[in-house]
Amino acid sequence: MTAATAQPILEVRHVSKRYRAARPLFRDVTFDVQAGEFVYVTGPSGSGKSTLLRMIYRAEAADTGTIQFCGKDVLALAPRAVPFLRRNVGVILQDFKLIGEESVYDNVALALEILGLPQREIYDRVRQALDRVGLAGYEDIPAADLSGGEQQRVAVARAVVTRPSLVLADEPTGNLDAGNAAMVVDLLEEVNAEGTTVLLATHDNMLIAARPHRTVALVEGSVDEIKEARAVEDVRYGAMTQEAFQS
Ligand SMILES: Nc1ncnc2c1ncn2[C@@H]1O[C@H](COP(=O)(O)OP(=O)(O)O)[C@@H](O)[C@H]1O
Ligand SMILES: [Mg+2]
Repeated sequence: MTAATAQPILEVRHVSKRYRAARPLFRDVTFDVQAGEFVYVTGPSGSGKSTLLRMIYRAEAADTGTIQFCGKDVLALAPRAVPFLRRNVGVILQDFKLIGEESVYDNVALALEILGLPQREIYDRVRQALDRVGLAGYEDIPAADLSGGEQQRVAVARAVVTRPSLVLADEPTGNLDAGNAAMVVDLLEEVNAEGTTVLLATHDNMLIAARPHRTVALVEGSVDEIKEARAVEDVRYGAMTQEAFQS
């Protein structure tokens, strides 16, 4: 099997989107992500990064176009097929979205309980996921009592505990200081190195410069196309500034 013949894990084709009567947010958004890649979605605030990620996990509709994930069109998925997405796509958001009064263990276990796994397997997988993010021993602590950096690590554990093939991270470092941000990106790079595809939305050019990965840029503020930067050289800070943040 080679990358050239393998089907992309994600195929976004001619997606358009207009909120209310405003000018279109997306006119024709088209790009691929190959299995095993780590890809940034970038562009200034308001360019549609969050909308794009929400479309991929079917929390937002598109006006036209298709988004194939593992060969299935998520935008056209029957309601009974949505658990397929919940199992195979992990989501991490800027503001963690943990259940504050629930324990760290319960926050991570919930995703597996929804999938109906046996308690013993849930226990093993939650312990493993918490160990993975350096939070072994934190099981019984209410999520709200943790620092922001720790909460985001719980969110990473929750996103990977179902062993998804794709992790979507929407500005996962946006509420963190530099040290915690680096820790979260380290974790996502490790998860990626183990084979999980990662799509990370950020407008943080310093992050992109420090950790170069292929970048899908929502260009020119009003966003009417996606430009793919195929080479690492294209995503250096200067190039990004010119290509993606020209006004
Ligand atoms: N539910 C919505 N209803 C109307 N407009 C929205 C909605 N969600 C986002 N928008 C608008 O769409 C644009 C893109 O938003 P968003 O996807 O959050 O961009 P980004 O994540 O790049 O900052 C913004 O102008 C935003 O105000
Ligand atoms: Mg956003």
